[in-house]
Amino acid sequence: MKTNKISRVFSALMVIAFLAACSGGSSESGQSGDAAAASNEAPAGDKVMEIFIEGNDLMQFNTKEITVFAGYKIKLTLKHTGQLPKISMGHNWVLLNEGTSVADFGTKAAAASETGYIPADAGDQVIANTKLLGGGEEDTIEFMAPPVGEYDYLCTFPGHWGAMNGKMIVAEAE
Ligand code: CO
Repeated sequence: MKTNKISRVFSALMVIAFLAACSGGSSESGQSGDAAAASNEAPAGDKVMEIFIEGNDLMQFNTKEITVFAGYKIKLTLKHTGQLPKISMGHNWVLLNEGTSVADFGTKAAAASETGYIPADAGDQVIANTKLLGGGEEDTIEFMAPPVGEYDYLCTFPGHWGAMNGKMIVAEAE
């Protein structure tokens, strides 16, 4: 009777060990590493993530948070789904580098009407940006995802950054 009990406990442990090996083994042991090896071999530059964002006549982006993977090329499209013209309800999508605040940049950019509300001296404060759009227009841009971290984005049309902003989270590629 004692032997049976030990035997049952041992069997249960074996099942647990087997399940653990199946679920977690690919990243640690070489035995089940085929899938991991395959994903690691693909050149990072060939990986593309497509992102679609909308801005509307109510001064809103349709998303406040985007997650992408480091090392991927980001193909981002901003579409202005409203009908108001660029001069009264212009939208762009501007991704800021770490260390640049939405409020500071948004305030500064509002004065840069001659350069589409991207200050000429923005330098590396801006990682990527679309052009300024009016109702019905769209723009697609491509850029490499920055390093792992959190980055702010905003619309820099005057008065919009307080409502039209969000975060792009760059995660480690799986
Ligand atoms: Co806007």
